[in-house]
Amino acid sequence: MTKFEQVQEDLINHPKTWLVTGVAGFIGSNLLEKLLILNQTVIGLDNFATGHKHNLEEVKTEVSEEQWRRFTFLEGDIRNIETCRNAVENVDYVLHQAALGSVPRSINDPITTNEVNISGFMNMLVAAKDEEVKSFTYAASSSTYGDHPALPKVEENIGNPLSPYAVTKYVNELYADVFSRTYDFKTIGLRYFNVFGKRQDPNGAYAAVIPRWTDAMITGNEIFINGDGETSRDFCYIENVIQMNLLAATAEKSSLNNVFNVAVGERTTLNSLFSTIRGALYERGISVENPPIFKDFRVGDVKHSLANIDKAKKLLGYSPKFTLNQGIELATCWYIENSK
Ligand SMILES: NC(=O)c1ccc[n+]([C@@H]2O[C@H](COP(=O)([O-])OP(=O)(O)OC[C@H]3O[C@@H](n4cnc5c(N)ncnc54)[C@H](O)[C@@H]3O)[C@@H](O)[C@H]2O)c1
Repeated sequence: MTKFEQVQEDLINHPKTWLVTGVAGFIGSNLLEKLLILNQTVIGLDNFATGHKHNLEEVKTEVSEEQWRRFTFLEGDIRNIETCRNAVENVDYVLHQAALGSVPRSINDPITTNEVNISGFMNMLVAAKDEEVKSFTYAASSSTYGDHPALPKVEENIGNPLSPYAVTKYVNELYADVFSRTYDFKTIGLRYFNVFGKRQDPNGAYAAVIPRWTDAMITGNEIFINGDGETSRDFCYIENVIQMNLLAATAEKSSLNNVFNVAVGERTTLNSLFSTIRGALYERGISVENPPIFKDFRVGDVKHSLANIDKAKKLLGYSPKFTLNQGIELATCWYIENSK
């Protein structure tokens, strides 16, 4: 039995109460679905800044009526400390996902990104500490590696941040670390590397590359590549991220107060990603004739990204089950069904 299977069995036998912030977003709604399927009680907090009601409605269709009754949704903003205190009441585990993502958004509006990602994070941290929750697992980011040239990325070696967003995610780590040492409070930071999967928003100026391209290919729109296409990323399917959140939240004491890479440990260029998505769509009867259009590199973007995931494997028993190709197969089906 894998560590993840064991954790799931324990949770089914001894259900807990979870708070998922950012629950109407991509990662938050997938965490919600998994927790409800495991018969957990879930409080969800979101202000719909970038999340959607339809994500919650979709989760409702994926679980039983009884499981759905174990979910309480709170519409609110993490910039309000009372909202955060109310949300953490009687909670065992916090999975803090609410934030404003996207490097370009943070360059265009650093003030709001700072307010949500730093002040909002601080509110959640204080509320969770005061409530004495069992652990506080939060979404960190691979952007924290900044301009550090080494590949693969090892948790201990980071460079200078390249965007306001990267600064906010690094500040989260600094505060979490100080809180764990000052107040003996259990935190775990998960440095996500380009997560993708169902319910990731394909629309808007700040959409991530996989949903944006998949949707554009399905609807026959142009695909733009920033740079020469040789930029590379360690794309991580959502199921791997769910696994890490559950392993982290329930981890033994010795693994807490740490940050971990969450990825697959494989590097894919944008040119190769383009071919993979196009191939997956072709298998499903959608052919993409037009080649991508190359544009300038984007300010603030890291050129290459690849994770070393040994620390998560060793300390948490992490074992990513889904490769990029398997994830793209599943995500593509979802986007085809939901592109009308
Ligand atoms: N998706 C990725 O590849 C990736 C990579 C690294 C880190 N992350 C981090 O993971 C987390 C989740 O990202 P996602 O991809 O699901 O993004 P998302 O935009 O789909 O989800 C974020 C959710 O947070 C909510 N939110 C934003 N501001 C809020 C506020 N002030 N109060 C309450 N709720 C608020 C949004 O409405 C949204 O539902 C974020 O912290 C993000 O920075 C994501």
